[in-house]
Amino acid sequence: MAEGCILGIETSCDETAAAVVRGGEHLLSNVVSSQIATHQPYGGVVPELASREHLRAIVPVVRHALQQAEQSYDSVDAIAVTQGPGLAGALLVGISYAKALAFALEKPLITVNHLEGHIHAVLLEERQKGSFQVEFPVLALVVSGGHTHLFLAEEKREGWKYQNIGRTRDDAAGEAYDKVAKLLGLGYPGGPIIDGLAPHGNPRAVKFGPAQIKHRNRGTPKDQQTPHDFSFSGIKTAVLRYVETEGMREAVAARQQALASIPKPLLQDVLPLCDKKTLDLVASFQRSVVEDLVGKTLEAALERCARTLFVTGGVAANSELRRAFEREAVQNGLPVFFPSRKLSTDNAAMIAAAAYPKFMAGDFASPEFSAEAALPLR
Ligand code: KG4
Ligand code: ZN
Repeated sequence: MAEGCILGIETSCDETAAAVVRGGEHLLSNVVSSQIATHQPYGGVVPELASREHLRAIVPVVRHALQQAEQSYDSVDAIAVTQGPGLAGALLVGISYAKALAFALEKPLITVNHLEGHIHAVLLEERQKGSFQVEFPVLALVVSGGHTHLFLAEEKREGWKYQNIGRTRDDAAGEAYDKVAKLLGLGYPGGPIIDGLAPHGNPRAVKFGPAQIKHRNRGTPKDQQTPHDFSFSGIKTAVLRYVETEGMREAVAARQQALASIPKPLLQDVLPLCDKKTLDLVASFQRSVVEDLVGKTLEAALERCARTLFVTGGVAANSELRRAFEREAVQNGLPVFFPSRKLSTDNAAMIAAAAYPKFMAGDFASPEFSAEAALPLR
C-alpha cells in the first residue's frame, strides 16, 4: 500500500505555502512564503495583490517543499489543495496549479477545507509526539484573521463530522487585532505586535463592556443561526472612541510615521514609540478579547459535554490566550491542545495532514471543482 506521501498546497489568503506530510503525521517539509511586506502599507490584505504574489511564489515554494522533503514530483502519492474558504482569486492560484500538477503527473487530487486544515494542524503535531487518543466530542475554536468559529466534532466511519455551533457575527478576532493595531499606528499584522506589547500595559486600565450581540438573529436564516456567537466590531469601535476622547490622534500619527521607514518593525522598534496610555489600551483590548473567547468556548464546551478542546488558527499563537485556556480548561477538567506557533498560522502541512484520511478512503476530487470562497465545514 502507498505510504501516503502527500504534497499540500495552500493559497487561501496571504501566505503561499507548500508542505509534504507522510502518513498524515510525519512532517517532511513545511515552506511558507509570507506576503506581510506587500500588505503592510495597507494595514490589511489587498485581494488583488495577494493573487499576484501567489502567482509569483507558487512554483518556487512547491519546488522548495519537495527539495526539503527529499521528494520529487514523481515520488509523492497525491496532491492536496485548499478549496475554501478564503479569497476566491487567491484560492484559484493554488487550485489551478494543483490541478495542472495532478494532471501532468497522473496523481490523485484531494480538496481540503481550510478550517479542517487548522483542526488537523493540532492532530498532526499531537500524533507526531506519540500515541494520541482523542476523546470525542471535540470542541474546536478556529480563530484567525478571517474566521472565528466553534465546531463540535464527532468521529464517524468516513472521518470527522462537524457541527458549527458558534461564529462571529461581524469581525473575526484576528481582524479586530489587525484593525486595532492599524488605528493605533502599530503596524501589520496586529496580532503578534499586540501580543508583544500587552504585557507592558495594565490590562485593567480601560474597561470594555462584554461583547454584545445585537439583533441576535435578525436577517439570519433559521438553519444558519448558531447559539454560541461572537462579535468583535464593538470593541474595535470602543478603542477608536477612546483614542478620540483621550486625544491620542497626534501620537498615533507620529508613531505611524516613525514606523513607515522600517520595513519589518519588531517589538523593540514599536515599544519605545508607545506611551503608557497606549500600552494600557492595548493590554485592556487583549484582555477583553481573550476573556470573551475563553469564556464563550468553555460555556459551549460544558453545555455540549465536549471531552477535548482544540484551539487553532492564527490567533491561537497568542500567549495570553494560550495561558488563559490552559488555566481555565484545567479548572474545568478539560484537556486543551494547540498547534505549535508555526502551525497556528496558515501553512500547507495542515492541508496535507487533513487530506490523509481522504487519501486512504480514495475520496479524490473531480477535475471540474473550483474555489469556494465561503465553503462551509460539515
Ligand atoms: O490563520 P491565519 O494565518 O490566517 C487566516 O486564516 O486568517 O491568521 C492570521 C491572523 C491575523 O489576523 C493575525 O493578526 C493573527 O492571526 N495573529 C495573532 C497572533 N499571531 C497571528 N493574533 C494574536 N496574537 C498573536 N500572537
Ligand atoms: Zn487560516
